[in-house]
Amino acid sequence: MVLCADPPLPIKPPESKITELANKTTYESSVMEQKTRRHIIERYRSCEVSQVILSEVENRHQHQTLEPVKSPISGCSPSVESTTDTNTLHKHTVADAAWEALKKSIVHFRGQPIGTVAAIDKSQGALNYDQVFMRDFIPSALAFLMKGEPSIVKNFLLETARLQLREKMVDLFKLGQGVMPASFKVHHCNSQHKTESLLADFGETAIGRVAPVDSGLWWIILLRAYTIWTRDNSLAESPECQRAMRLILKLCLSEGFDTSPALLCADGCSMVDRRMGIYGYPIEIQALFFMALRCAVTLLKEDRNDDFVYQISKRIKALSYHLHTYYWLDFQRLNEIYRYKTEEYSETALNKFNVIPESIPDWIFDFMPSRGGYFIGNVSPARMDFRWFCLGNFIAILSSLATGKQAEAILDLVEERWEELIGEMPMKVCYPAMENQEWQIVTGSDPKNTRWSYHNGGSWPVLLWLLVAVSVKLGRPHIARKAVEVVEKRLVKDEFPEYYDGKAGRYVGKQARKFQTWSVAGYLVAKLLLDDPSNLRAVSLSDDGHIRAPVLKRSNSFP
Ligand code: GLC
Repeated sequence: MVLCADPPLPIKPPESKITELANKTTYESSVMEQKTRRHIIERYRSCEVSQVILSEVENRHQHQTLEPVKSPISGCSPSVESTTDTNTLHKHTVADAAWEALKKSIVHFRGQPIGTVAAIDKSQGALNYDQVFMRDFIPSALAFLMKGEPSIVKNFLLETARLQLREKMVDLFKLGQGVMPASFKVHHCNSQHKTESLLADFGETAIGRVAPVDSGLWWIILLRAYTIWTRDNSLAESPECQRAMRLILKLCLSEGFDTSPALLCADGCSMVDRRMGIYGYPIEIQALFFMALRCAVTLLKEDRNDDFVYQISKRIKALSYHLHTYYWLDFQRLNEIYRYKTEEYSETALNKFNVIPESIPDWIFDFMPSRGGYFIGNVSPARMDFRWFCLGNFIAILSSLATGKQAEAILDLVEERWEELIGEMPMKVCYPAMENQEWQIVTGSDPKNTRWSYHNGGSWPVLLWLLVAVSVKLGRPHIARKAVEVVEKRLVKDEFPEYYDGKAGRYVGKQARKFQTWSVAGYLVAKLLLDDPSNLRAVSLSDDGHIRAPVLKRSNSFP
């Protein structure tokens, strides 16, 4: 494991210590790890990735818990093998089955690998799961990069940059040029498969006809990951990639009627791609937007004819200020909102969005621990969506939108609410689920998004990689390790489902696809990050001290 060249890794605990650590209860080991962690971080202050895992303890622990599986190379689906033979135990790991499944999902275009299909589930109609989804490809891309196979990532970035230039129409309306596709597939133009072209979906055929706002943001984040990983700037500096970035960001930075730096979105414009009440300014998009802007600053070439990079830097500050001021929630802040006055007027108003305290849902008072906090789902006039969304919060940590203290608080909350957020399968896409009349009104009675299913409080194995990434970033690997153990108990046996249902995520999802590629790749990235924390550099940005929110004082303008 190479974290930084100088100085060499300091710690290899004695064997007795390793055994002791591996056998500790979670609480004990977390206290011990925290002490060791502090010591190590102290010594590695100068490294970009300063968080270190006691890999010897990790490996030992993982080997104790890995489930043996039959290798799918033999042609059968991977399944858990009951054996006591320790050699077999090490030979066929969950990871073997996952690599095999990932390999099978690769899509080729004109002889080159360009992406991975969303799922290969022969038991159901393909619908659009036979396509390469941009967001779904991210964990696959990271797994390939970390495995030293960057060419598929490069091909993907170049082909999607080409797709972006196509004219996109929904009925008679032309979409912005910067829009990236939600997904694409290879079209074989004649029966002999001699000519191939790409068919892309920019939202014009998607359920609900929504353009994916997240695709372009992920594209920029992936371009940085590729550049960091390969140490090759030439792709990012190519005219194709420079143009693609500019087109994406021009869309996001275009002037409108906004009174805030957050990006206004339609429902269903991201991973949660159906009506779920995330319209407005969803945290998932704001965090991705923030991260993409920060990545772009490092990738864009300055152009003497415009001040684009300067505009981006200004937006980063404004967005950070906005999200810190209005989205961050912890016990103390909740209490402040609970005591909000309403109908304030003027610049000194404290309750800027005129949120009525009676609109605070009951569940949040129990859910909010004394230790912990998170960025809430959405803020707009008279509306705070208090739901906890996984992706936005974890991207906030990876992008360093969250301050050090906030990042720790987000993970504290995950630990405090382990049963609710992780339960029997990491991890909840959002919490809690909507039920009854609220579900009817907000989702439009969507039968796929019933309570604790799919996007409505379902559990998505793909999110494991984000949990592991943030745990590794914050030097709290015991959280990652515990979650990986939970996943390893079932993922292969259940054939890598897309999502799980139920309050604790116990049941394979009602309509979940099997062999869902991002469930496969998410697990692999989690393992690669645990095995070598320096892999984190591809997806983590360090804190550059961007502006934080000021302390708000109570308004005098309340009549
Ligand atoms: C579903 C998910 C979406 C994902 C797609 C392909 O539509 O909601 O997030 O990208 O499937 O897996």
